[in-house]
Amino acid sequence: MMLTTDTGASESNPLREGLPRTRVPEPCAVVLFGATGDLTHRKLMPALYNLARDGHLPAECAIVGYARRDWNDETLRREFAQTLPAAIGPGFDEFWPSFAPLLAFSGGTFDDPAGYDALRTRLEALDAVRGTRGNRLFYLAVAPEYFATIIANLGRAGLIHPTDPPSPWSRVVIEKPFGHDLASARELNRELGHVLSECQVYRIDHYLGKETVQNILALRFGNAIFEPIWNRRHVASVQITVSEELGMAGNRGSYYDGSGALRDMVQNHLMQLLCLVAMEPPVDLSADAVRNERVKVLDALPRWSPRDVYANVVRGQYAAGSIQGTEVVGYHAEKGVRPDSATETYVAIRLMLDNWRWAGVPFFLRTGKRLPKRATEIAIQFRKPPTTMFEVDAGESAGANLLVLRIQPNEGASLAFQAKVPASRRRLQEVRMDFRYGTAFAVPPPEAYERLLLDVMLGDPTLFTRTDAVESAWRFCTTILEAWQRPEATPNAVYDAGTWGPAEADALAADASTHWRRL
Ligand code: BG6
Repeated sequence: MMLTTDTGASESNPLREGLPRTRVPEPCAVVLFGATGDLTHRKLMPALYNLARDGHLPAECAIVGYARRDWNDETLRREFAQTLPAAIGPGFDEFWPSFAPLLAFSGGTFDDPAGYDALRTRLEALDAVRGTRGNRLFYLAVAPEYFATIIANLGRAGLIHPTDPPSPWSRVVIEKPFGHDLASARELNRELGHVLSECQVYRIDHYLGKETVQNILALRFGNAIFEPIWNRRHVASVQITVSEELGMAGNRGSYYDGSGALRDMVQNHLMQLLCLVAMEPPVDLSADAVRNERVKVLDALPRWSPRDVYANVVRGQYAAGSIQGTEVVGYHAEKGVRPDSATETYVAIRLMLDNWRWAGVPFFLRTGKRLPKRATEIAIQFRKPPTTMFEVDAGESAGANLLVLRIQPNEGASLAFQAKVPASRRRLQEVRMDFRYGTAFAVPPPEAYERLLLDVMLGDPTLFTRTDAVESAWRFCTTILEAWQRPEATPNAVYDAGTWGPAEADALAADASTHWRRL
């Protein structure tokens, strides 16, 4: 299951870490809605190719692209014969002849029932020819406004099987955003619920597919030394940073401008990181046990008034600046962005969880575009020793231990502690113990999408977000969004591209006698 640190290299490619071989799913057809789109090209098809090549897909498998275009099986295969090599790299040609026959195409629009009837007929034919046995994975790699339409049509066309055995399985994967606020998330969940049971819905948050994110639980609950000190008595504060150098890469401007950092990153990725750092030990690693504990963290998020929001949340937007010596434009000059847009590209939040373990411990969350570098990390700042008998450097956290979990890049963890400076009598200096995935395991971890797609095929929802968690995270974020809409709300603070965000965010940390880490 998800927390194994299996290091067995696959037979076909010794440089790739193998997902455990015991995890071969049942025969099935994978249907990709949005087969001609960006996500399918960049992530989904490469992940399926790698899974197939490394022996993780069942022998009886079909991958069916569904899209509006006037394509056929051959056109689809030609398309990916051209675009996949860049994603796969050297060695593509060797496995392509085995992979190409898995690909099939079924044409149709998202709202025309005839397209779904044709899809059903095609899938039944593939059941007979390829032995896919009626099991279906529908991946909705489409804009969220199509989710409800596609799911309703799948239901109408009889493509969703009942959940009780011996019926074959049907699973539907959707990508964020799951709504744009609490009300719309509830409405979406209600619409999904007309056709699907909770156990058939897989909401992807690709952060949960990252090996280093899964390792948070391994570190916490696979070792005995951390858990006794993982609480308010020993932890002074926690910082979670997801910093990005990128601005509006590609054509993302218009999507992002309707979303902003809170919806795009905080409601999902940062909330999931918070859950894994703050949750109680689950009774075991079953999906229910882990997801129950994750959602309890979200339920313990504060219930804020607008004033609390203004005191604890800073939003910002980047102006022109320079990133590693390259001049970049400000947010308003990005393609697809409204010239007077008030969308935030940076958010910093200080919050306390209202529960027994964490009461009184500030959690600092921040994320932003056009910050100096791409870095995701979680820093646990421990309290200082109760008395000082040594000489330590000045500063509010001087002498305290710091555990940093580096999610990406330079994946690993480090623990800062004090050591006596040689030949001095009482002088201490901070030193670090460092663990790096690259050197410890010597093989790169699997891509998040490979892990997640495989888990859907295996019917393991542990790394996916349940309805209650989506709604709980939205409850918190909607309070912030609503406060920002009020007339008294302070507008975005401006920061220059290439800096660590607006100065206003520093005050959040300073009020709690700490400072944001410079990564
Ligand atoms: C996506 C966001 O979910 O995550 C993007 O929509 C963001 O705006 C991306 O850039 C970050 O993912 P990663 O894996 O590169 O940290």
